[in-house]
Amino acid sequence: MSEFIEIAPSFALNQRAVVYEGDCRDMLQDIPAESVRMVVTSPPYNLGKEYERKLDLEDYISGQAGIIKECCRVLKQTGSICWQVGNYVEKGSIVPLDALLFPVFQRLGFKLRNRIVWHFEHGLHCSRRFSGRYETILWFTKSDDYFFDVDPIRIPQKYPGKKYFKGPKAGQYSCNPLGKNPGDLWTIPNVKSNHVEKTSHPCQFPVELVERLILALTKKDDWVLDPFLGTGTTVIAALRHGRRGAGAEILPRYAEISRERIRRAAVGDLPVRPMNRPVFDPKDAGRNLTTAPWLNPEPTDEHPLLFEQKAPYKSKK
Ligand SMILES: C[S@@+](CC[C@H](N)C(=O)[O-])C[C@H]1O[C@@H](n2cnc3c(N)ncnc32)[C@H](O)[C@@H]1O
Repeated sequence: MSEFIEIAPSFALNQRAVVYEGDCRDMLQDIPAESVRMVVTSPPYNLGKEYERKLDLEDYISGQAGIIKECCRVLKQTGSICWQVGNYVEKGSIVPLDALLFPVFQRLGFKLRNRIVWHFEHGLHCSRRFSGRYETILWFTKSDDYFFDVDPIRIPQKYPGKKYFKGPKAGQYSCNPLGKNPGDLWTIPNVKSNHVEKTSHPCQFPVELVERLILALTKKDDWVLDPFLGTGTTVIAALRHGRRGAGAEILPRYAEISRERIRRAAVGDLPVRPMNRPVFDPKDAGRNLTTAPWLNPEPTDEHPLLFEQKAPYKSKK
């Protein structure tokens, strides 16, 4: 992408990018039935963040159900819906939202194709449970006749030089030269303070996460819809690959960030972490902080052995 882009304020099939500033339920009413190839989103988790009112869980799920029903209406028969969620947390007790939402999709006749585990390495440090380092993406299709092309998102084989050693194919390479299926466990850095895509929004998902889904589940010029657009990540990922992108964002300041990021992406000026870049490894990068001073085999007054020392570190609840 390297050109000025017009961002439409409401949905119309002849547009390429839409940012609807308002409630997604109003935007969805304007979208014709069976016109969208893919819905991908990360909704509010009912945690009482600045952009949501914390509800009774039942009311939260029924609110989500109404929106999911509308998403089903606008989705093509061959289309996919990807709902990215984590946990609802109440006094340290967690409720996995995908488990609560699964029956909502099932009642609408959706078929679950994968429950993708999105693993990342940074987040809150817990002291009374294991720190949460994954969220999930429920990938459903509307029917059994759905679009799926894994080729654009294949990843390098572990043993690309491996050959058949017997049989009619002996001597030929045994793996797919385009790479292997990436599986359903995706390790992709989450957008924390030092991520190049970080904005003032508290919960962005990374462009590369959405790109993977878009490349496998949509074709060029297809519509990709995000009812909870936040900072515009879905529209950016769609446009980067020649798809059309539309989304709704209820808070004007995030809608403005969306438009700004989409404009910058369109002229190639938005910093984006590239897909398939290996996760940063501080040891490989030679960072000296990776050597634990207390592992010095010769204890000194300054650095006694680990078992003699209390970690100077306090975890959050
Ligand atoms: C978890 S964030 C999504 C962030 C997004 N994935 C990104 O990468 O920036 C959810 C967003 O939905 C917005 N939102 C909440 N309720 C909404 C509604 N009814 N209609 C449209 N947007 C809504 C919130 O303001 C928030 O920005």
